[in-house]
Amino acid sequence: MLATNFIGKVLPYLTAIVFIAGMTYRINRWNRAKAAKMTLFPGSVTSAEKWKRIIKEVLIFEGLFQGNKPLWVGTWVFHAALALIIVGHSRVVADFPLIWNALGMDRGDVDTMSTVMGGSAGVIILGMGLYLLFRRFAVQRVREISDAEDYFVILLILAIIITGDIMRFGNHFDLKESREYFAALFSFRAAHIPSNAYFLLHFLLGQLLIMYIPFSKFLHIPGIFYSKSLIYQE
Ligand code: HEM
Repeated sequence: MLATNFIGKVLPYLTAIVFIAGMTYRINRWNRAKAAKMTLFPGSVTSAEKWKRIIKEVLIFEGLFQGNKPLWVGTWVFHAALALIIVGHSRVVADFPLIWNALGMDRGDVDTMSTVMGGSAGVIILGMGLYLLFRRFAVQRVREISDAEDYFVILLILAIIITGDIMRFGNHFDLKESREYFAALFSFRAAHIPSNAYFLLHFLLGQLLIMYIPFSKFLHIPGIFYSKSLIYQE
């Protein structure tokens, strides 16, 4: 079918090109931006201190923790579950027998770990995603500053999470199929696209999200390294 072939054989390469070109453009712009020395933060800090603060901000969202505790809990749990899911998705693309052997784990152990961690992360992130959407509607202050992009992003993420959870808990998806598919895709061979409808929808939405990242507010992620470097001058 035309749509399946487009999602499985053309869009992945397009996604890679748009994402890499978009990120290169953004990073170049950050690098070229005139960085006036800011004196907002009291006194100057050593390089080690500056990186300690940046890493703390990245790992525990310290700024948000000090500003808004209920939002901090939701955001931190959401991102922690997302990090687990991203690591878990490596198994969608390939298996890593060398790593499992080195850790003394057999196939059964790896599958159990994946079921427990992937399953819990899938449920937690769904709960947190719904909470973040609910908050946009329910808290007047947040509703006032939310624009169409904020709703679009959260609905896109929720649709990705729901289709992922359906594969995880309902309509079982065999990872062997996706591994063979990605191996062919990476080596530019004719790929057999998995026929599972939820996989295709999840993959389509996931790719839209990846292409959108360089042009969206998501770039607060790498942007942290730039903005905090400016605030904490050495
Ligand atoms: C675009 C590339 C992606 C592909 C090929 C992909 C593929 C898959 C597959 C095959 C599963 C089922 C795993 C299993 O049952 O063992 C899954 C689950 C899931 N995916 Fe994705 N996914 C992609 C992107 C994303 C993104 C961007 C997100 C989050 C925003 C996401 C969130 C989830 C969730 C929450 C689950 C259920 C929990 C889990 O198994 O980890 N996926 N995905």
